[in-house]
Amino acid sequence: MRLKGKHIVLGITGGIAAYKSAVLCRLLIKEGAEVKVVMTPNATEFITPVTMATLSKNSVLIDFFKHDDGSWNSHVDLGLWADAMLVAPATASSIGKMANGIADNLLITTYLSCKAPVFVAPAMDLDMMAHPSTQRNIKQLASYGNLIIEPESGELASGLEGKGRMAEPESIVNFLVDALDPKKKSLAGKTVLITAGPTYEKIDPVRFIGNFSTGKMGFALAEVLAGQGAGVVLIAGPVHIKCHHPNISRIDVQSAIEMQQKALEHFSNCDAAIMSAAVADYRVDQMANEKIKHDKNQSISIQLVPNPDIAASLGQIKKEGQVLVGFALETHNEQAHAQKKLVEKNLDFIVLNSLNTPGAGFGHDTNQITIIDSNGFEAFELKSKTEVAQDIVHRLIRLLN
Ligand code: C5P
Repeated sequence: MRLKGKHIVLGITGGIAAYKSAVLCRLLIKEGAEVKVVMTPNATEFITPVTMATLSKNSVLIDFFKHDDGSWNSHVDLGLWADAMLVAPATASSIGKMANGIADNLLITTYLSCKAPVFVAPAMDLDMMAHPSTQRNIKQLASYGNLIIEPESGELASGLEGKGRMAEPESIVNFLVDALDPKKKSLAGKTVLITAGPTYEKIDPVRFIGNFSTGKMGFALAEVLAGQGAGVVLIAGPVHIKCHHPNISRIDVQSAIEMQQKALEHFSNCDAAIMSAAVADYRVDQMANEKIKHDKNQSISIQLVPNPDIAASLGQIKKEGQVLVGFALETHNEQAHAQKKLVEKNLDFIVLNSLNTPGAGFGHDTNQITIIDSNGFEAFELKSKTEVAQDIVHRLIRLLN
C-alpha cells in the first residue's frame, strides 16, 4: 500500500491508450489511493465512464454541469482535493491545451486549478510525439514543474526510432510512488558513476576492435538516477545516443584504459557506481602509428593483451558505504558465474542479463534480468530498459539509505 490515503485525480484524455487507464486505476486503488476520474469528452469514445466509475468507486466527471439537475462540477474543489493529478494518457491535443491554458473542458480546468503535483504520461503516434510543437509543449509542461512520465520507444514512419507509446501502468504507479514519497526520492545529494557502451581498442589510426553494445541500458540508468535526484557521472564509450537530464554529466571515452582512468578519477567522490559498459577484454599490444598496408599474399596477426577490469579495480578501492554494481552476460551456468563475479569484483549486487531470453540484451529495447547479491537472487520479467533501470535503481536506493 504505497499510496495509502493519497487522493489522486486521474485525468483521461482521448487516445487509444485510454484502455490502459482501467488497469492504472485498479493499481492506484490497490496501492491504497482514493481515485476520482475526470475524462475529456473524447476519452469517453475509448473507454466508458461506467467502467471507470466502477473501478474508481466514485462517479466520473466529464461535463461542467450535470445535465439532470444543472448542478456544477467544481474543478476548483477537485483540484484542491487532489494530492496528485495524473493525466494518463495525455494526448498531443490535451498536452497542447495544458501548456497553453486552453480550458475548454473539465479536465483542463481541473489541471489549471490543481495545487498538487501533476504527472503527465504522454501517449500518441510516434510522429506526433516527434513534432517540434509537441516537444515544445511537453518542455513547457516540465518548466511548470509538471512531471513527465517518459513514453516508450518504437519505430517512426521514417524508420527511425522515436517515443510515443504510453508508459506501462506499473511504471506509472512506480513513478508516482517515488515522486510522492519524500523518503523514496532519496538520491538527492547522492552521486552515481555509470560506465556505458562499448570500448574501441585501436589497431591502427583507422581500425579498431569493438563490440555491438549500444549503451542503452547505461543511458536508461543515468536518466532514472537523475530523475531520482542523483548527480550522475556517465562515462560513455562510443555510442550514438544522447542523454537528456541536466544532472547527467557525460564523459566520452574510447578505450578501456581511458574509461578506467576516468572511473578511478571520479569514483572517490561517488556514493555508488554501476558498471554497465561492455568493456573489451583485450586491447592491441602495439597500436600501429600508420594505417596497416594490406598484402594479399600474407596473413597478419595482432597480439592482444588483457585490459584492466574496471569494475574489479573500483572494487579494490571501494570504501565503507560505497555501493558497486556490475552486470553479467552469460550463456551457461549463468547464476554460478554471476555469483563468482560478485565476489571476485567485490560487487554489492550483480545484474544478470540472460542471453537465453529472446528480446533481451545487446541492441534491444527490452531486457530480462536477475539481480543477485550475497543473500540470493530476484528474477524479473522481460521489460523495457527504462523499467529495468527502475528496478535496478530501486535496489540501489535500498542500499544507499
Ligand atoms: O567479467 P565480465 O566481463 O563478465 O564482467 C562484467 C562486469 O564487469 C560488467 O559490470 C562490466 O561492466 C565490468 N567490466 C569492467 N571492466 C572490464 C570487464 C568487465 O568494468 N574490463
